[in-house]
Amino acid sequence: MQFSTTSASPVRRKSACLIVGVFESGPQSATTREIDEASGGLITRLHSQGDITGKPGESYIIAQPPGLAAERLLLTGCGKAGNFNAAAYRKALATACARVAQTRSRDALIALGRDGVDGLDAYYLGRQSAETASAATYRYDELKTATRKPGARLAQLTVALSTRAAANQAAKGLADGAAVAAGVRFARDLANRPPNICHPTHLAEQARKLAGRHRHLEVEVLGEAQMKKLGMGAMLSVGMGSEQPSRLIVMKYRGAPAKRAPIALVGKAITFDTGGISLKPPPGMDEMKFDMGGGAAILGTMAAIAELKPALNVVAIVPACENMPSGRATRPGDIVRTMAGHTVEILNTDAEGRLILCDAITYARRFKPELVIDAATLTGACVVALGHQFTAVFTADEPLAHELLAAGERVGDAAWRLPVNEEYAESLKSNFADFANVGVREGGASIAAAYLAKFAEGLTWAHLDVAGSAWRSGKDKGATGRPVQLLAEFLLARQ
Ligand code: BES
Ligand code: MN
Ligand code: ZN
Repeated sequence: MQFSTTSASPVRRKSACLIVGVFESGPQSATTREIDEASGGLITRLHSQGDITGKPGESYIIAQPPGLAAERLLLTGCGKAGNFNAAAYRKALATACARVAQTRSRDALIALGRDGVDGLDAYYLGRQSAETASAATYRYDELKTATRKPGARLAQLTVALSTRAAANQAAKGLADGAAVAAGVRFARDLANRPPNICHPTHLAEQARKLAGRHRHLEVEVLGEAQMKKLGMGAMLSVGMGSEQPSRLIVMKYRGAPAKRAPIALVGKAITFDTGGISLKPPPGMDEMKFDMGGGAAILGTMAAIAELKPALNVVAIVPACENMPSGRATRPGDIVRTMAGHTVEILNTDAEGRLILCDAITYARRFKPELVIDAATLTGACVVALGHQFTAVFTADEPLAHELLAAGERVGDAAWRLPVNEEYAESLKSNFADFANVGVREGGASIAAAYLAKFAEGLTWAHLDVAGSAWRSGKDKGATGRPVQLLAEFLLARQ
């Protein structure tokens, strides 16, 4: 999708579809009134008849609107006037873009933020426009036999601003937003791809291809023999039951002098989580193909920064395994040795994420990182606590917590802090090893974080549990690409 801006009047500008906002109540925006006037009071009429009420999520399309240069006029509900904030803008724009994508429009002119959105400057208006429009029109159709003809796709979006200066600022936001959106799509494609195709070796190949397209990226893939040499006994135990060999994907982005310590991003990539011998129940098990959502998001973030080119160094570490039951699989009761040297009694083979992450975090130490952030679909308990709205942030570092929460807030990729401390590790005691991989059920997300914290000792570290945010279930089942937007924004703000 291509993005551009204009400060010209939306009335006279040609486009396949002009998108205009309508408030439920209160005065309409200056732009909406201007378009209403040019079209002979069309919007006022539709609004007073109740054809469009202006409620969020509502849209109404008019072909060949009178008095306008556009071929179609799309009205989108913006909620109550006076409450038009970033969230309302995203909702109205997403609704409109999904609707335009059903028409044969190849381009659209977005005028609903032209008079400003509460809390968004022109740069972030551009950012959010690109990221929202891209997400709203995303489809995973590479395995659908009868896909739509490419000619019918929405390919060009122009955002209308009221001044030249705002248009220029928004253009920068759109360019950055397009790069972030590409990273989000990359992550969504990987996570949506079925587990028979998207296994650890496939992920490694995709990482190689990505690095091949960008001068600032390089990649190295470690196989099981190398992991064995490194002593990654926890990571290796997870893939034991699978026919698919495990991979450790290491990708570097160089945007600053080599002497500058990198930021390490670690992403859980279980390409399918059956639970192993501690087998999961059948309902919804297909969704465990999304258990590589954290790893996909880390690779997506690398794709985004390869285009954004922030002045910093980043190293991504993505441990990729398939968790399967078999005669060779790890048993409950097995004791393994981690790369850090601790022994771990595996009481539940379904708590596999922390087993691959602990060795990946230990591996990250070799890069002497400034800080380490991991993203993982780690616990069902996190979904119970926060639902699908928020990514959970766990860290003992106050400033880092606030930076992450603020970054998510700025780009609409929301995160919420949950606690982690030594106390939560108490139930991880084992009679037979240094500790166990599971504790009590209550507070499960914090216990998992406390397990990881043992391996992050002395590091500045944050853990993002994306179990609830990385994908949606039900009718809209599919990967969201979260937290690519949060991480990309965090990195941009840190350069
Ligand atoms: N990948 C799952 C976590 C998960 C479950 C994410 C459901 C999203 C939805 C993880 O590997 C897992 O199975 N965790 C267990 C840990 C438990 C055995 C301590 C869980 O949460 O049930
Ligand atoms: Mn599991
Ligand atoms: Zn898992």
